[in-house]
Amino acid sequence: MNSTTFALAVIIASVREGRFGPVVADWFVGQAKQRDDVNVDVIDLADTPSPSANFASRIGAADAFVVVTPEYNHGYPGPLKTAIDSVGRETVSFHGAHAQFDEHGAPREPAAVNTAAGVLLDQLAWWAHPLVRARAAHPYGT
Ligand SMILES: Cc1cc2nc3c(=O)[nH]c(=O)nc-3n(C[C@H](O)[C@H](O)[C@H](O)COP(=O)(O)O)c2cc1C
Repeated sequence: MNSTTFALAVIIASVREGRFGPVVADWFVGQAKQRDDVNVDVIDLADTPSPSANFASRIGAADAFVVVTPEYNHGYPGPLKTAIDSVGRETVSFHGAHAQFDEHGAPREPAAVNTAAGVLLDQLAWWAHPLVRARAAHPYGT
């Protein structure tokens, strides 16, 4: 047994009657379970709607995610967008960017965007610091 196991959430993103998605997901879960370092949780959006406490807690317990999604009209399904939106992402957003900066390139209303940038950088650092250690110990992809 590998000393470090991770929790993998496999999200089935199609919810329609007669869908094919679970066939693909079952195959992928079989592949994942051949590894001794993965614990798989299958989150089927058809019976685990988002937002819901059940969905949020299972996403919160996962270390990694795989989404099995169909393509509908060159896009991904609405329930998958709802699921992604329901768990939150930090962004720094400028609507009408030209008007939001002065002639010196400084934001006209710096308070909110400076705070948002700080939160974004804190979250980025949370991911980056362990990656620095991991890449030094074992280069990615080898
Ligand atoms: C309304 C609709 C739009 C589709 N659009 C695309 C598409 O843009 N590209 C593609 O490769 N397949 C497209 N497909 C095929 C689906 O990806 C395919 O049928 C898949 O099995 C759907 O997943 P599901 O059965 O789990 O719902 C479309 C299917 C439907 C019903």
